[in-house]
Amino acid sequence: MAAPFYITCAIDYVNGTPHLGHAYEKITADVIARWRRLRGDDVRFLVGTDEHGSKIEKTAAEEGISPQEYVDRLAPQFQETYDLLNISYDRFIRTTDADHERTVVSLLEAIRDAGHLRKGTYKGWYCDGCEAFKTEKELQGGKCPDHPTRDPKWIEEENLFFSLSRFQQPLLDHIAANPSFIEPATRRNEVLAMLKDDLRDISISRSKSAVSWGIDIPFHDDAVIYVWYDALINYLTGVGYGTDEALYGTYWPAAHHIIGKDITRFHCILWPAMLLAAGVPLPQQVFAHGFVLLGGERMSKSSGVKVDPADVARRYGPDPLRYFLVAEITHGRDGEFSWERFEEIYTAHLANGLGNLLSRSIGMTVKYFGGVPEGAGVDDLLKQLTDEAVAGALEAHDALRLHDGVAAAWRIVTTCNEQVQAREPWKMAKDDSQREALATFLYGLLESVRIAALLLYPVIPGKAADILAALGVPLDGEPEWGATAWGGLPSGLTLERPSPLFPRLDQLLAD
Ligand code: MSP
Repeated sequence: MAAPFYITCAIDYVNGTPHLGHAYEKITADVIARWRRLRGDDVRFLVGTDEHGSKIEKTAAEEGISPQEYVDRLAPQFQETYDLLNISYDRFIRTTDADHERTVVSLLEAIRDAGHLRKGTYKGWYCDGCEAFKTEKELQGGKCPDHPTRDPKWIEEENLFFSLSRFQQPLLDHIAANPSFIEPATRRNEVLAMLKDDLRDISISRSKSAVSWGIDIPFHDDAVIYVWYDALINYLTGVGYGTDEALYGTYWPAAHHIIGKDITRFHCILWPAMLLAAGVPLPQQVFAHGFVLLGGERMSKSSGVKVDPADVARRYGPDPLRYFLVAEITHGRDGEFSWERFEEIYTAHLANGLGNLLSRSIGMTVKYFGGVPEGAGVDDLLKQLTDEAVAGALEAHDALRLHDGVAAAWRIVTTCNEQVQAREPWKMAKDDSQREALATFLYGLLESVRIAALLLYPVIPGKAADILAALGVPLDGEPEWGATAWGGLPSGLTLERPSPLFPRLDQLLAD
């Protein structure tokens, strides 16, 4: 039976429009989701928007509309962006969805019934940017280091507290027994350092006089639930906790959370503590990626530095951006986006590398044989090349080293182009005694391109599908792992010269 694999992304705040950082995370998660499907897993993939809290309430007020109207205007822009980027999610969740509000209340009740909530007074700082309470120690010069343009607010409220401190040791024990619970190791070590510090109980309600935009707590008058407590629970709503036994039973706890490095405290401490408190099994893994920087700066609404991913997808199609972000950024580390580098990679890798390989392989096949050559032997060099690429991509993707996974597949592209230069098939075509050798080489080239397309499918699904169609083996749904074995291309297929896979930039942008 197919193994269940539930993958989630952080749900985005809708206090601004989607930026490249939001898109990066959804693209990398989509690569993982598509890779797991290719491997035969039963994947469920969740993305969505985080719509409550003071930050959204404030932005809506600035726009002069109600928070509900505001989020209804913004959430579709996120969904449309992810559709344009070809993100293969199963559900787009919004924290204002009715089933989510019910799930939040039922988890909260489970935590209360288990005795992990108490009333108390909260006095301290709150950073709207992080939507988090801050200790003096966490502020630098009175400011939140992640949001230096905002002033933290002093808050004194009668609140509901969650007994986070009780879970300090159980969490340390869990991480010790399951180191891969937090990846990469740098983030695990950061979280371990946070956990070894004093872990304090946290306030999980906000009085309605301070924040009214949130989910009501039925057993605590005049308060809404703290936005992070609400948001984290989306991962359970998305899998039918308390509402759909079959869905929940299938995909939980086979959960993999893909998040940015700035929110590990919430996902690796608060979230598992909430689950332990409610008696829910812990997810399998939290992977924290790095940041996409633009001119060395982090993108955010407040910094004003941004690139609109929907706009990039409309102008270039989704695959060049997907390829750039996955191939150029070491998964787990920070990386830089620049238009200059993006266009350079488009031309060097996609147009001149992959696109050229496809067009010359099919072009020569059509010219010399009219279609996939018959009577071809096995080209040992190319077969070994693809075998190694398959093994390399498998190893890298399974370890979430997505950039290495792309590089492994890309070795097929560069080596095949080199082999065309080295073996000069146009000279072989002039010599009848070389007919069989030519057939073997061209079949080998087509077969290598086909296997490269399958290995690259998770990263450039649209273009990979175009390649397979051009080779006469169009996809029927999702590709299957078995197809990555050598010899899958039937001989005798009639082929046609394809139109350019990646048109030159001056042509692409002129349209
Ligand atoms: N709403 C919270 C997450 C709640 S999850 C239960 C949030 N939203 S966010 O809009 O600020 O960020 C959404 C995701 O995008 C986070 O994982 C964050 O780390 C990621 N990124 C935001 N800016 C980024 C970059 N510049 N680069 C890469 N990812 C970044 O946090």
